[in-house]
Amino acid sequence: MGCKAHGQRWRRHPRVVHYTFGLLHDSGRTLIMPLMTIPQSELELVHRFTPGSGANGRTTLLLLHGTGGDENDLVPLGESLLPGAAILSPRGAVSERGAPRFFKRLAEGVFDLEDLALRTQQMMRFVNGAISTYHIDASRLIAVGFSNGANIAASVMLTGPRLFSHAILFRAMVPFEPKTPAALGGTPVLLSSGEWDPIATPDQARRLQSLLTAADAVTTINFYNAGHELTRDDVLDAAHWIAAMVT
Ligand code: MLT
Repeated sequence: MGCKAHGQRWRRHPRVVHYTFGLLHDSGRTLIMPLMTIPQSELELVHRFTPGSGANGRTTLLLLHGTGGDENDLVPLGESLLPGAAILSPRGAVSERGAPRFFKRLAEGVFDLEDLALRTQQMMRFVNGAISTYHIDASRLIAVGFSNGANIAASVMLTGPRLFSHAILFRAMVPFEPKTPAALGGTPVLLSSGEWDPIATPDQARRLQSLLTAADAVTTINFYNAGHELTRDDVLDAAHWIAAMVT
């Protein structure tokens, strides 16, 4: 059972600014890809960071994978969304029978709220540490999460204070019901949901939208004729949304 954003052939941007080389499996093919995976000891979460280049190089995409993904999973997606943006991509530290996640769950859609609160703080420490380690411009830091990754991004936002300049949440759910709304100061958030998604249902997406709106985010929600998997239209619309935000 995996929630990887596979099944899509993301266009690869031919940018090569990394430090070591490794093998990356992509849709059944094995590619030689330059990788920079940093061990957990330095910044708490295993991750890769690619500096930006060109016109979009000052913007950083924080890529947060779904259950069973890793720090390499969403890199092609990030490169499609905003070519040349810096990429910060951590791996979830929780293992569910070998499948990395960003927080524990008790069953499908039933979250371990105690662990979620701890992992939300861990994500905030990781992002703040990465901002200073890699000299990231925090005013141009866009969270891009899919499924479990979207849920941890939503949890960070609902907890506050504001950490992301923008967020794109693909197939997100309500991670927890906050007692008081955070102050997100007008953070633009795009929710990208599947009409037939049995996991991140349309009701969940709409409830999350209203919680984020109550926290002073400026939300847009799009529904696609899809289930939990991403479609080409999700990616194209999100790329247009980002382009309008950062240029
Ligand atoms: C979650 O556990 O965050 C959601 O159920 C989505 C997923 O399956 O990862």
